[in-house]
Amino acid sequence: QPIHLKDYRPPEFLIDRVELRFELDPECTHVESRLDLRRNPAAPPGGGDLWLDGEELRLTHLAIDGRVLASTEYRVDPRGLTLYQVPDRFTLETQVEIEPSLNTALKGLYQSGDLLCTQCEAENFRRITYFLDRPDVLARYTTTLIADQARFPVLLSNGNPIARAELTDGRHSVTWEDPFPKPSYLFALVAGDLSLIEDRFVTASGREVRLQLFVEPHNRDKGEHALNALKKAMRWDEERFGREYDLDFYMIVAVSHFNMGAMENKGLNIFNDKFVLARPDTATDADFDGIESIIAHEYFHNWTGNRITCRDWFQLSLKEGLTVYRDQEFSSDVGSRAVKRIRDVRALRTHQFAEDAGPLAHPVRPESYIEIDNFYTATVYDKGAELVRMQSALLGPTTFRHATDLYFARHDGQAVTIEDFVRCMEDASGRDLSQFRRWYEQAGTPELFIRGHYDAATWTYTLNVRQETPPTPNQPIKRPLHIPLAIGLLGPDGRESPVWLAGEPEPPAPGTRLLELTEPEQQFVFTGLSERPVPSILRGFSAPVRVHDDLSDADRLFLMAHDRDGFCRWDAAQTLHERLILALVADETHPIPEDYLAAFRHALGDTTADRALLAEMLTLPSETYLGDRMAVIDVEGLHRAHRHLMCELGCRLRTELLAIYDSHAETGPYVFAPEAVGRRALKNLALSYLVYAGDESGLACCRAQFETAHNMTDVMAALGLLVDQGGDEAEAALQSFYRRWTGEPLVIDKWFSVQAKFARPDALERVKALIHHPDYSPHNPNRVRALVGTFAKTNQVCFHAVDGSGYRFLVDQVLELDPINPVLAAQLLKPFERWRRFDAGRQALMRTELERILGREGLSSDVFEVASKALA
Ligand code: ARG
Ligand code: ZN
Repeated sequence: QPIHLKDYRPPEFLIDRVELRFELDPECTHVESRLDLRRNPAAPPGGGDLWLDGEELRLTHLAIDGRVLASTEYRVDPRGLTLYQVPDRFTLETQVEIEPSLNTALKGLYQSGDLLCTQCEAENFRRITYFLDRPDVLARYTTTLIADQARFPVLLSNGNPIARAELTDGRHSVTWEDPFPKPSYLFALVAGDLSLIEDRFVTASGREVRLQLFVEPHNRDKGEHALNALKKAMRWDEERFGREYDLDFYMIVAVSHFNMGAMENKGLNIFNDKFVLARPDTATDADFDGIESIIAHEYFHNWTGNRITCRDWFQLSLKEGLTVYRDQEFSSDVGSRAVKRIRDVRALRTHQFAEDAGPLAHPVRPESYIEIDNFYTATVYDKGAELVRMQSALLGPTTFRHATDLYFARHDGQAVTIEDFVRCMEDASGRDLSQFRRWYEQAGTPELFIRGHYDAATWTYTLNVRQETPPTPNQPIKRPLHIPLAIGLLGPDGRESPVWLAGEPEPPAPGTRLLELTEPEQQFVFTGLSERPVPSILRGFSAPVRVHDDLSDADRLFLMAHDRDGFCRWDAAQTLHERLILALVADETHPIPEDYLAAFRHALGDTTADRALLAEMLTLPSETYLGDRMAVIDVEGLHRAHRHLMCELGCRLRTELLAIYDSHAETGPYVFAPEAVGRRALKNLALSYLVYAGDESGLACCRAQFETAHNMTDVMAALGLLVDQGGDEAEAALQSFYRRWTGEPLVIDKWFSVQAKFARPDALERVKALIHHPDYSPHNPNRVRALVGTFAKTNQVCFHAVDGSGYRFLVDQVLELDPINPVLAAQLLKPFERWRRFDAGRQALMRTELERILGREGLSSDVFEVASKALA
């Protein structure tokens, strides 16, 4: 059942042209296709039969070069169609019927509300028509859409509209032509009553592009932010990567039923509406942020993904890792680089490190899979982006740009591999990246053990660095990696010293230096240091590794105050929080150190510091992340310690926090700009500490904020705190919020998730009750993730209740969802991947639940793969 990278073979046939004709109807859609096929000259000769992928299709017509085939000339099975002994070059005609309204899996052509839309990545085009549904078959498409004009006034597909007609029976038709050859996973169509918001963009070379955002009519007032983000992204890609847009139209459609974030279909992106629609009163700063980066991400795919695509799905990170790297760089350039880096590192450490340490650990380029939908992971996306980032650091900005220029020039129009990308990095730089390639092959998070020693007699400081990657499933032995390690050395006055390696004739200018690790253990001797420096290690998080160093708490307080590297300042603060919370888990009476409090008191008083960065520094690591830092996760102990520290900080820093709250009040209309977002973040963080501490004036501020705030960021911050407090006030707030926002599904999602998120004793009962709420539906992935996903992923103490009730609930939900939407069901299982990290009692309960899943008959391959690998 698993598919292996080593089994890759080039396609025996190629498809040059595709003509599709859809008669759209939610109940029964007719799909007619004409494919121009020919034998692939580059493939070894096969047996003469042709295999075409096709699932859930009802075949009604089949002809070769106009001749209808006899039933002895082909065979249909549930996975596809075999045509016996076909010519070397021919035209294949098929007609099939499909049922979009029954397509609850949201793969292929499906119905979302009153719309019809598609999701073809990775292997869903085969649910639309018989095809060579693999990314290395690139074809030119012409698509005619026919549908009832009243019900489906807008008919969209990839490329440019070339013909329109009104038919006599109330239907109309539109024909689209995409001039760029593309793999089938980039095909898209949309039909429905959509409202158009239009803008324009003139490319660097002076071509005018029409930007068209399609939303359901009642969402017309929520599209401006997405269009602005798109224009920013288009300009940025021209300036930073020399990439211009290549069609006359760029269309984005927002739909309310979508399994993932969004999809980069050529010229016609389809988005989960959560990542398009925003108005200050309905969307939080985090939503605005997410929209900006996902709009950019899908746009950047036009070059990294579409113009240059993947040879096979093992190469998924070729497009996803690179495109995430590009969207991260975009967000860094239009916002704050340090804050963006901190957030990305936090996400990586929380999700990707956990994945790498668990039973589903896999390399950035996996070697096998059962269901490719399960490999749209933090490893492929986010660790993949880190690998691109490391290569950009090793090459330096100028050479890296030459290398990406070479990649675009050399491979435009091709379906290529990660190896092809790395070779461009090598060819443009003359560097040997053979050891670096291991990053793509080895799973697991490398660990660095770093010890420093100062020698006053010789004015030298020696760093001893040892690397080790722990074993992962099927990879017991790891080889040393090529790791870029950025470091700085701080003098006692807090100033940067030159990072001067012994043996070099001259010291470099003071500042960051990139060391390169290649051996299991290495020593670096720095010279010219009249006093012991404090090392600033892994600046900018220069590699996706865990660092174990021998710095003291005093060193970390020093770095927190003086390091010029924003990431390292934040990281020093995080380590202090973490060590303190873990000490509190071990001993509830552990004192809160005065110098720790003083450092934060001082930081809060610094009115010139970046507000957003300060908020990040003051944010405690999550219970989930802290759990992963323990040998055995102590669920209750962590929760208690976390709460205790929040409460202590609230009490001990009360004056400073109140001053922050008062001086950061929202004045004037909402703006989404880094400065304003940072102010809100810091203000709401201050409020949360005060409320956790039970401070009366804090609570009063919170109530007032909930009543009067005009932006969703402030409303949600206050609502969350009220819900956390519980009682009648929480109920009243939830009720008024619900009444205010019925009719805005994305806001109602927030209403569901805020009730699942907090560690109230009744959280599970509440979540169970909400499953029966009239607004809950297993058919809407955003709603399911808001309620069930939030509970299992973020409410560690309630999900891991010692009686196993949380586990039973989640598995009940997964089993109910699996027949409806396997991709979504498998996504929800993610928290179980950590099952071995808990105590024996919880392990046994989780194992039983995983076994219960595997005992179910007719399980999807998606859920089967996750559950069986988790147990293995
Ligand atoms: N290529 C999309 C993106 O990251 C993700 C779509 C994946 N969908 C899926 N069902 N696997 O931009
Ligand atoms: Zn992507």
